[in-house]
Amino acid sequence: MSIKILRHPADLYRVAAETFVRIATHSVAVQGRFSVGLAGGSTSKSLYPLLANEPGLRSWLPTECMHFYWGDERHVPPEHADSNYRMANEVMLSKLPLAPNQVHRIQGECPDAARAADEYERELCANFALAPGVYPRFDLVLLGIGPDAHTASLFPHTPAPQETARSVVANRVAALGTDRITLTIPAINNAANIVFLVSGADKAVALREILEGPRDPRKLPV
Ligand code: 6PG
Repeated sequence: MSIKILRHPADLYRVAAETFVRIATHSVAVQGRFSVGLAGGSTSKSLYPLLANEPGLRSWLPTECMHFYWGDERHVPPEHADSNYRMANEVMLSKLPLAPNQVHRIQGECPDAARAADEYERELCANFALAPGVYPRFDLVLLGIGPDAHTASLFPHTPAPQETARSVVANRVAALGTDRITLTIPAINNAANIVFLVSGADKAVALREILEGPRDPRKLPV
């Protein structure tokens, strides 16, 4: 694990964008494809436009070989303001020359969140050509961290962080009064690269507990 501490948010986003491009180009050079799990939230929302708009970064993206997935999704339709798909599409994906089959969104509009999770698990199985029970191997999973040490939609003291059989589950987050759909810990940990983007003083206490405190996946899913 490597930890980069950067003084200004703009530096964080640039280093993250350069890391994204490095992993994408390497993945395509080695295996002809790059599969990334995107994060939601404001930190990643500041990264994505760099990839779509900065010529020195965008020109390096092997867009024709890239496949975009999500680490989690809110239980809302794709046009909803809270949709992680909508955010990434607005600030990045809609600006890249992608075919529809390169964007694999979680169907947050499905009335039953558990069914949306099942559907996404099938989407992963088909696109990663997985045998039953095998986790996908993303080339990169981008993740944020909440002040409560959640990541994706793996919230403290909720059922999802304990899931070890599935790659995708619905997760009831009582504190938010909502359901989410999320990759599970084993599916995320099977990735070739994981990058946590962490910005803001409100994350400092959680980050110190995560890095220096005792391991406690129920309390600290990160
Ligand atoms: C989501 C994200 C979530 C996010 C963290 C950090 O669906 O909201 O997947 O895990 O990454 O809450 O969010 P910020 O970057 O806005 O602090």
